[in-house]
Amino acid sequence: MNILILGSGGREHAFAVKLHQSPLCDTLYIAPGNGGTHTVATNVAISPTDFPALKAFVLERQIAIVVVGPEDPLVQGVYDFFTADPALARVQVIGPSQQGATLEGSKEFAKEFMVRHHIPTAKYASFTKDTVEEGCAFLSTMKAPYVLKADGLAAGKGVVILDNLTEAQAELRRMLINEKFGKASTKVVIEEFLNGIELSCFVLTDGVDYKILPTAKDYKRIGEGDTGLNTGGMGAVSPVPFADEAFMQKIEERIVKPTIVGLHKEGIVYKGFVFIGLIKVDGEPYVIEYNVRMGDPETEAVLPRIESDLIPLFQSLYNATLASQELKVTPQSATTVVMVSGGYPEDYQKGKEITGTEKAVGSTVYHAGTALKDGKLLTAGGRVLAITSLGDDFKEALQRSYDNISKIQFEGAYWRKDIGKDL
Ligand code: AMP
Ligand code: GLY
Repeated sequence: MNILILGSGGREHAFAVKLHQSPLCDTLYIAPGNGGTHTVATNVAISPTDFPALKAFVLERQIAIVVVGPEDPLVQGVYDFFTADPALARVQVIGPSQQGATLEGSKEFAKEFMVRHHIPTAKYASFTKDTVEEGCAFLSTMKAPYVLKADGLAAGKGVVILDNLTEAQAELRRMLINEKFGKASTKVVIEEFLNGIELSCFVLTDGVDYKILPTAKDYKRIGEGDTGLNTGGMGAVSPVPFADEAFMQKIEERIVKPTIVGLHKEGIVYKGFVFIGLIKVDGEPYVIEYNVRMGDPETEAVLPRIESDLIPLFQSLYNATLASQELKVTPQSATTVVMVSGGYPEDYQKGKEITGTEKAVGSTVYHAGTALKDGKLLTAGGRVLAITSLGDDFKEALQRSYDNISKIQFEGAYWRKDIGKDL
């Protein structure tokens, strides 16, 4: 069968490598892809949110499965667009309906969902322009640090954590009155601060049953020792050593099951990935956020550990037979280290030549922000490459990733040297 992946990052490259290995995959396309994806798929110059153009392409190339990488097309309703169109009835979109995608598209919706289903999460209240003064008063009843979250999608920048009350109140006004994050911050969720260690749990669901995929830990800050600005993610380790069986049991019983049952009970159509951002506080799991897609760079550490073919798993979502499928995972550890452009996550330059990727041995070099121009590989984004390795433990895997990184060059390249050090 022919498959189309939507997206252009390291996550999508990892999906492309994995799907390309399947004997069930005939032709693999990726829209738009990047400077590395062409080795396993055909890059197609269509934006993942241009639904009419996607429709025309899917019909022309007889695509059977569309794997949606990023959240934007899902929040904009790509699933509903495809399922509502009789011409596309046979095409399977891997991802939730627009209503399901609201779990990521609106923090308030996600919080209300968790409250309805008794899923552990930080206490919260939400405010709008009209209730900004109540919001400021609410902040003064809370203890520092103060967690302010723009309700809508803000490209990963919508969460602000501040230590000082006056600053937090000023930030709340900036978000609500000055629309700091545009439409995304017409509503703001204020949350209790949870102090603990974070991890990501990934679930594949057909809307009734689910499979828990390997866990991963992401390193979000730009600086070593988890300092500096937030990024899309600077590296990942899978599995997460502190997520032992007893803790995973708590996650499954208190969070995964009520999430899937809650979606089903509420009639929310969901056939895709749920990415649950968790925090472990005094041994107990709490939900920080839901995402309705896989994580990036977590996918680059999670997929290489999955031994099962993804295509039968995807096909089983359609008729809700996921329960009859097997998910085989290697006990090996996987790590990924992200090389970024100097300056990222603030301003950075593009178009720098990348050399040495072919010298990496024993690791997979996933491309994120790269482009091919006149036969040269150039940087084209903040996060440029994700270097993934397997090993008997995460330290061995990390050593491989770091050994190979030292063979790859581009001007201004930066990466964190401390991935996994906290574990
Ligand atoms: P989010 O965009 O929701 O993933 O939030 C970004 C980051 O903010 C998370 O990865 C956490 O590190 C942090 N964060 C969000 N909510 C909380 C909270 N209630 N307590 C502590 N840290 C939080
Ligand atoms: N790495 C975090 C995310 O994909 O949202």
